[in-house]
Order: sequence, then structure tokens, then C-alpha cells
Amino acid sequence: MDRIRIRGGNPIRGKIAIGGAKNAALPLMVASLLTEDIVKLSNVPDLMDIKTLMDLLMSHGVIVEMAWDKNSAACRTLALNSKNITNLTAEYDLVRKMRASVLVLGPLVARFGEAKVSLPGGCAIGTRPVNLHLAALKELGAEIEIEDGYILARAPNGLKGGVVRFPTVTVGGTEDLLMAATLAKGETVLENAACEPEVVDLAHLLVAMGAKIEGAGSSRIVIHGQPRLHGANHRVVADRIEAGTYAIAAAITGGSVELSGAGVELMGAVVESLVHSGVEVTSARDSLKVAANGAVQSVDISTAPFPGFPTDMQAQMMALMATAQGASVITETIFENRFMHVPELARMGADITIKGNTAIVRGVKTLKGAPVMATDLRASVSLVLAGLAAQGETVVNRVYHLDRGYQSLDQKLRACGADIERIPG
Ligand code: UD1
Repeated sequence: MDRIRIRGGNPIRGKIAIGGAKNAALPLMVASLLTEDIVKLSNVPDLMDIKTLMDLLMSHGVIVEMAWDKNSAACRTLALNSKNITNLTAEYDLVRKMRASVLVLGPLVARFGEAKVSLPGGCAIGTRPVNLHLAALKELGAEIEIEDGYILARAPNGLKGGVVRFPTVTVGGTEDLLMAATLAKGETVLENAACEPEVVDLAHLLVAMGAKIEGAGSSRIVIHGQPRLHGANHRVVADRIEAGTYAIAAAITGGSVELSGAGVELMGAVVESLVHSGVEVTSARDSLKVAANGAVQSVDISTAPFPGFPTDMQAQMMALMATAQGASVITETIFENRFMHVPELARMGADITIKGNTAIVRGVKTLKGAPVMATDLRASVSLVLAGLAAQGETVVNRVYHLDRGYQSLDQKLRACGADIERIPG
């Protein structure tokens, strides 16, 4: 298994191109199941999760053509052709690799009247059920049964518009239902919908495919179902989590970066928290400049749905707070088990106490390099960030977690002065 070795202490300085968002590209790819025509996506990041979803879509009979995207460094274009869907079952072996696979449920049942999708099972950051997807699809008239670990959904006469009020905000649930409702008969209202930029990006593609959608980006989305959708071209929105991660790389090392392709409007509370901690953030057209400006001060954060502080940035912010001046209270409200980076950061000398879903981080002067273990995607990158700031050598094991969500992480950081290398193993 590959490892990443970092010798800390170099400030991160330079320009970093932010790629298309993984969490937008995944539902956009799934949306191709809604039409017989070709859906073309550009600015698709070259990541393991994208390949996993391609495998799943191909198992349904989708033909995928991939090429390099001439307009965005290192990203791809995908042409997805779902004309001949030959299989309505999403097998456990493919779904268990990535939870987002469950998104195929809504579009398949909406277009074909039935689908069989494996339950995704747990994952490192919590149990992550799909009950909200299922309850919402029932509101649109789907009959749902669970049998031998599979979700069986049927709507032989098609889905019908309805009112869905999500009891908690769910990004995947909103995306699943948004897609399903585009082909349902009549009007669907999604209340307490997720407002994440990735949901808005999905709505943009669906509208380009002929869907009638109002209110995406707000908590109430209204969809007027259409008998069919057609093909479209779409460019994937920038990855706000990748941008936020490199912003923290600059802040934690006393450096400065220009993040091209990332607009401030995507960043929600991340920019606000960085500014409160004393980091300089300036936004230009389609780019963001982030510069450390003296010592970083501690700030409290609490994760929340967009535009609140994203749970996917919590671990990275904790790494920054580990070397900030003062104590910071970090509260995780979205997932129940998302502090797995804490014992690893502690191995590097961080002073962190956990009480329930709250971590109290007392900033230390310097972190010390150590061998550490990656546990999930964002936890792993927080260890890389800590390693960039630490004295001495840090080796991050189980790098495959990083490959799910960060394209060329070591190369992008090395180009900005980091002493970092990937060791094949
Ligand atoms: C998406 C993101 C993930 C991010 C998360 C929260 C993708 C591919 N992944 O995940 O990176 O961390 O949003 O911003 O976009 N829940 C239920 N029942 C359900 C669905 C969700 O109880 O049916 C709970 C979850 O366990 C969690 C909360 O709702 O506690 C939010 O989850 P959700 O927004 O659905 O996350 P994902 O869409 O899986």
C-alpha cells in the first residue's frame, strides 16, 4: 500500500488549480440514467470514486467514453450514453465501495418503474442510513421492500408528484429525489432540501436536460415532472472542499496560495472562519487568494449544512486549530463518528480532548512528525496538513483513502514548495 512521506516546515506558496467537485460529478453522472440521449460532462476529476461510479453505471449498461479535458488541467470529459439499460440491479460489490452509488435508485425507478439496489452498509464515519431516500421515494408512490440486503423499489405506472419534507437535511436524499421527480407525473415539492452548491449544480444539468425546477439552492425546491428528458453538456462546478483544504495548507504553514477556479460563493462558512482566525482571504474573479498573516488565532466551529461549516472540512480545520493560539471548540453535528483523526493528530503532539460530539483543541507551538494512519478521506488529508506544519518527518499510511477524493495531492503541494513524496508500497 502506498504511503506519503512529508518533511514539514516549508511554507506552501504558489498557484493551485482546483478541479471539478467529486461530490458534484457523482450525482451528475447518475443523472445520465434519466435520458436515452448522451450527457456530456467536462471538468470531471480523475479520482477513484469517479471510476467506482463508472463501473456501477457500466454494470447497468451505460456506455461511458472518457477523454482528457483540454480546458481544465488534468480533468476529464465523460460522455454517458444510457440508451440501452440492460440491468436494473446495483450489486453489493459495487455499492459497498461507495455510498453515493445509492443515488441510482431514484433515477432508475423514475425511468424504468423498478430498481434493485444493495443497501450500502456502514462506513467509517458512522452508520449512514438511507431511510430518508426511501421514505421520500414512497411519497412519490414507489413501493419499497428490503430483501436480502437489497432495496427493491417499484412504481409500475411511474412515479407521481408529491410533497416531501425531509426531517433532516440530506444532500444525497435531496439529489436522489430531485432526479426522480424530474420524470414523475405532476408537481413535487422538496421541503427542508439541502442547499449545497453540488445540489445546485445538479439542478443546472437537469434543467439543461429539459427538467422544470425552481428553488434549487434554497430549502424549498419545486419540480414539474416531464415525460422525458434529453441530452445536455455540462461543466462540473469547482471542488470547494479541495479549495478549502489547500487554503488551510497555506494557513497552517505560514504561506500563501492562489486557488484558481474556486469562487468565494462556493465556500460558505469556511472563508468566514479562516478570516476570523486571522488568515487573509481575497477573492478575485474565479479565484481565491489565501495568505497567512501572522499567528493563526483559535476559532470555534460547528459543522452544519450549507452555507454552514462543512463536515467535510472539519478535520482539516482541526489540524489548523491544533497549532493556533488559544483553544478552539469544534462541534460535529452531521456524522456521529467523525473524530477518527484525533488520536492520530495526538500522536503528532496535538492537545485535543473529545466530549461527545465536541472536541476541545488547545493550540500547541509545534507539532512533531510521526507515522500516522489514514482512516477516511478527510481525516487522511488533515494528517497531511498537520505533517506539512510539523517538525520532522510524517508518514501517512493507507493513502488509498486520499485517492478517493484528492487528485495529485502530493504533486500539487510539491509544486508549491512542500517536501512531500508518495512512496509506492
Ligand atoms: C454527502 C457528501 C459527503 C458529506 C455529506 C454531508 C457526497 C457524495 N457526499 O454525503 O461528502 O459529508 O453529504 O455534507 O456528496 N441520513 C440519514 N438517512 C438518510 C440519509 C442521511 O439518517 O437516508 C443522515 C446521515 O447519516 C447524516 C446526515 O443525514 O448524519 C447527512 O447525510 P447526507 O447529507 O445524506 O450525506 P451524504 O449525501 O451521504
